[in-house]
Amino acid sequence: MEQTLVILKPNAVQRELIGDLISRFEQRGLKIIAMKLCRISPEIAARHYKEHMEEPFYEGLISFITSGPSVIIVLESLAAVTIVRSMVGATNPADAVPGTIRGDYATSPGHNMIHASDSIESAQREIELFFSPDEIINYKLSVRPWL
Ligand code: RTP
Ligand code: MG
Repeated sequence: MEQTLVILKPNAVQRELIGDLISRFEQRGLKIIAMKLCRISPEIAARHYKEHMEEPFYEGLISFITSGPSVIIVLESLAAVTIVRSMVGATNPADAVPGTIRGDYATSPGHNMIHASDSIESAQREIELFFSPDEIINYKLSVRPWL
């Protein structure tokens, strides 16, 4: 089973849309195995987005992601990374297809609502950045055989 990390960014919390977004993942059949509300520190934000350090949008990105509480979630399913990325949609909401989260809720790349890991390796690194092993909950979903 594959795991991936999702961040419902500060504007998703401020717009009171976190319930809608979590519902989408539940409806699709992804299992929530860790979740917390927290304000991401500048240090953790810098480690999370280190690949973008040289980008012109980096400063704005760090300032936005640390501007208020986010919801951090670990999701599990077969092909979780690919499935969640496809549900999230293109980075620039102008390119995001309706039906995707960014295609339904966002208009600007800087406020695109949600982060999702882009590979199994990134997911592993990001999960370790945000959660200690004892915060990842191993349990059975009774609906599992039907997914
Ligand atoms: P994320 O990491 O947040 O899931 O987004 P992503 O993989 O779709 O896109 P990525 O290339 O990793 O970019 C990270 C975040 O930086 C902001 N960004 N702004 N102004 C711009 O051109 C621009 N490009 C990227 C976005 O908020 C993006 O989610
Ligand atoms: Mg990314």
